[in-house]
Amino acid sequence: MGLMTSIIWFLFLSMSECWRLPEPDPPMHGEVQSPQYPQPYPPNMLEQWDLRVPEGYRIRLTFTHLDIEASAECHYDALTVLYDEKVLGKFCGHENSADVQHPGNQPMLSPGNKLTLIFQSDNSNPERHQNLGFSAQYQAIDIDECSAPEPADGSGPLCSQICLNTLGSYLCSCHHGYELRSDQRSCMLSCGGGIFDEPEGHLFSPGYPKPPLHAVSCQYIISVEHGFVVSLNFTDNFHIESMDTEQGPNCLYHWLQVTIPDREPVKLCGGKSPGVIETNSNTVRLDYHTDDDGLSLGWSLDYSTHRVKCPFPGNLAKGRVTPILTEYFYRDYISVRCDQGYKLMMSGSEIDSFSAMCQNNGQWHLPLPECQIIDCGEPEPLLNGGVTFLSGFQNQYLSVVQYNCNEPFYSLLGGVTATFTCEADRNWRSNNNIIVRPACIPVCGKPTEDISNFQRIIGGVDAPANTIPWQVLLNVDGGRGGGMVIGDKWIMTAAHVLKRNRETASTASIKIYMGGNFVNDIMGSMVNASSVHIHPDYNNPNNIDYNNDIALIKLQNPLTFNSSIMPICLPGDDATYVTGIVGVVSGFGQIKTENRRQLTNRLKYVELPLVEQGICHDSIDKVKRIRNNVPTLTNNMFCAGIPEGGKDSCQGDSGGPFALMDNERFWAAGIVSWGG
Ligand SMILES: *[C@@H]1O[C@H](CO)[C@@H](O)[C@H](O)[C@H]1NC(C)=O
Ligand SMILES: *[C@@H]1O[C@H](CO)[C@@H](O)[C@H](O)[C@H]1NC(C)=O
Ligand SMILES: *[C@@H]1O[C@H](CO)[C@@H](O)[C@H](O)[C@H]1NC(C)=O
Repeated sequence: MGLMTSIIWFLFLSMSECWRLPEPDPPMHGEVQSPQYPQPYPPNMLEQWDLRVPEGYRIRLTFTHLDIEASAECHYDALTVLYDEKVLGKFCGHENSADVQHPGNQPMLSPGNKLTLIFQSDNSNPERHQNLGFSAQYQAIDIDECSAPEPADGSGPLCSQICLNTLGSYLCSCHHGYELRSDQRSCMLSCGGGIFDEPEGHLFSPGYPKPPLHAVSCQYIISVEHGFVVSLNFTDNFHIESMDTEQGPNCLYHWLQVTIPDREPVKLCGGKSPGVIETNSNTVRLDYHTDDDGLSLGWSLDYSTHRVKCPFPGNLAKGRVTPILTEYFYRDYISVRCDQGYKLMMSGSEIDSFSAMCQNNGQWHLPLPECQIIDCGEPEPLLNGGVTFLSGFQNQYLSVVQYNCNEPFYSLLGGVTATFTCEADRNWRSNNNIIVRPACIPVCGKPTEDISNFQRIIGGVDAPANTIPWQVLLNVDGGRGGGMVIGDKWIMTAAHVLKRNRETASTASIKIYMGGNFVNDIMGSMVNASSVHIHPDYNNPNNIDYNNDIALIKLQNPLTFNSSIMPICLPGDDATYVTGIVGVVSGFGQIKTENRRQLTNRLKYVELPLVEQGICHDSIDKVKRIRNNVPTLTNNMFCAGIPEGGKDSCQGDSGGPFALMDNERFWAAGIVSWGG
């Protein structure tokens, strides 16, 4: 408890020491009156007033009334006015008094900012004279310190160069090229030193254009933002004393040294202006040095700044730099666009866009990219065809390619040539807008070897190679049959070839061979069926109804056509069957030699004429009278053959083609079905 008390005591002491209230400013005016005024003043009194106005002002005292018992030299009653214990006046009497000890209407002026008034009265009977005393007003009057005479103590004028009166005070100032010393009175030559960081400015030597009175050593630093460079422009009026030495003029005692970072400082002197100095730097230091001897009138310069320059960005092959300017400066931007068909590449990878800025070090922040020709990539491959370059190179922009089909087995869908151009959007675009995507379609019915070139032989002969390339050999559960290729995935045959015991043969039980004239040759390469399609109206349980004896086999894999495998054409809508026209029947079926039947190892063909339907009917009717189980001729059937016989298709030829030629193409006019 005792400890706490003593701390509080200490605090109290400190506060009373430090927190004294500031003195209030003295008033600017006021009023003074004798006691009891306007009643007569009492006897035996002595009263003093110390009037005060703010520093820098004088007091003007004006009496509105003064009535004090008159006496010689105001010996008894008096008002005395003093300044600094010096009596300025001692007054008594009244306005009409004969003596001169009354102030009258003339105001009094104090030499300084204070005035003392002392009023005294003696013990004489006041009822005798009834004097009222005095009443006065005072006000503060500004002192013009500047017009005051120089003090007699030899301390010199108030201000060494320029004095400015202010209310209650004064200020000293200096002429151009000088600055006020710390005494706030005297002036010295201005070095103007320090740092100049404005974008432009004016610098000059002390006192310029007059020579300085004393030696000077002044430093000026111009330092502006990075990315800007300073240029100095000296006025023509340039004079720094130079010494003539054996090596010529030398800045020995007086000089202006220009220092630019990372460069050798340069000293300037002589009588010729250096004119413009491009520093190429954002900072420059100037040191001006003279001694007490010699005479230099000095120098003056304007400095300005401009943005750092970047090198010309250069030209771009197959592209354009924008904007095109004669010079590029700090903060300028450029961007690059490639010509149509070219892409922007930087450091090996493609970029969407490019722009670079001129940096404050005078370098572009990125090097220029390159414009590289675009390419469309490999043209899409064409099945059973190919691509050739017509013009251009490596799939590049504006390259032209042409699609071709593998002739003569395929031809281009639509027939016209398909050329594509690599466009600026990196796509191959068709040159005629018909073909969007080329396709090769098989050519049908046009063997590479012409069967008509061979001699006509009676009775069925070996087929020359590649003359009947659509011929198919089927083996269904061990039984031979024929067929023909009608598309790259389709085989056509007779329905009865694929039926065994009223059941449709399974795909696994169907063996398909093609591509040659020798059974032994083609046995090596078997083609698989994926599905079997019997005509829905084919219904032949007792082998006497061969109506709709037609079926299709779909292959697992598409065929690729060549001279040994080609499709036969299907009949057109307008196909006509003219009596007597000769067609070709082909197959690996049995042949008859000397009344023996044997399977052939070779593809045979026979040329048979188309028989008139009525004759065919009659012929079948004749047979029907002799035998049972003879099938019926329907409108879906026709006969081929010659009445004298000997040429015929045989078992094993079933399903094979009866081909007619039209417009130099073979078309499948019939399927070998049954015979008698
Ligand atoms: C240098 O200053 C002179 C005088 O003020 C002026 O005429 C001239 O154009 C200036 N030169 C440069 C490069 O600023
Ligand atoms: C045909 O089918 C058989 C059995 O499924 C298979 O082993 C063979 O590889 C197929 N052949 C072809 C050419 O696809
Ligand atoms: C035709 O194609 C088949 C199956 O691809 C092939 O076995 C045969 O050798 C080819 N023939 C020719 C003449 O190219």
